[in-house]
Amino acid sequence: MTETVKIELYANNLDETQAIATKLAQLVTAGTIILLEGNLGSGKTTFMQAFGRALGISTTITSPTFTLIDEYTEGRLPLYHIDLYRLEPSQVPNLHLAEYWRGEDFPLGVVAIEWASKLLTIPPKHLKINLSIPGRSPEQQSPNLEASPDEDEEFLKTLPEGRLIQLIAQGSSYVEMLNKGEF
Ligand SMILES: Nc1ncnc2c1ncn2[C@@H]1O[C@H](COP(=O)(O)OP(=O)(O)OP(=O)(O)O)[C@@H](O)[C@H]1O
Ligand SMILES: [Mg+2]
Repeated sequence: MTETVKIELYANNLDETQAIATKLAQLVTAGTIILLEGNLGSGKTTFMQAFGRALGISTTITSPTFTLIDEYTEGRLPLYHIDLYRLEPSQVPNLHLAEYWRGEDFPLGVVAIEWASKLLTIPPKHLKINLSIPGRSPEQQSPNLEASPDEDEEFLKTLPEGRLIQLIAQGSSYVEMLNKGEF
């Protein structure tokens, strides 16, 4: 059994990103861990909004940048949406994220983590979703570090609509899940 599979998809616009997220939401099961990576504005939260709607969550999913963890329980499965952007990697263990995929203290659901690159220990079996702007160099993927809020806003406004979406399954159950989707 193959333990890892990588699928590269191109979304030409927002609708196509949403369609991929919707399809994925139909495939996930209780305990699925999704690690979202990609720069500011690459579309991690946007992806999760469509994913959540397809799970049957009617509350609008917002960015958990400040709340860190948002829990949605009205869908087909509970969704735990986490954003590590504001944390230093050394602070992440304090969140005890493993409790969300252990299924003891919380009902088992889907755990989706934005800025998952901040995790010091990565759960070995997971689905990674990497979002980026096709055709842009790594330096062009985000505003420069010293950018003012105005420049950040300008950067977001001028983002093209196309996205490269890489789905990387790690572990046989995740590989099976992606294969079932026939992306
Ligand atoms: N094809 C597309 N897929 C996803 N988002 C798109 C697409 N085209 C345009 N967008 C826009 O790009 C922006 C993505 O912002 P979003 O907040 O989802 O990014 P993010 O990766 O969560 O950023 P952050 O790192 O700040 O959390 C939204 O304004 C969205 O409407
Ligand atoms: Mg976000």
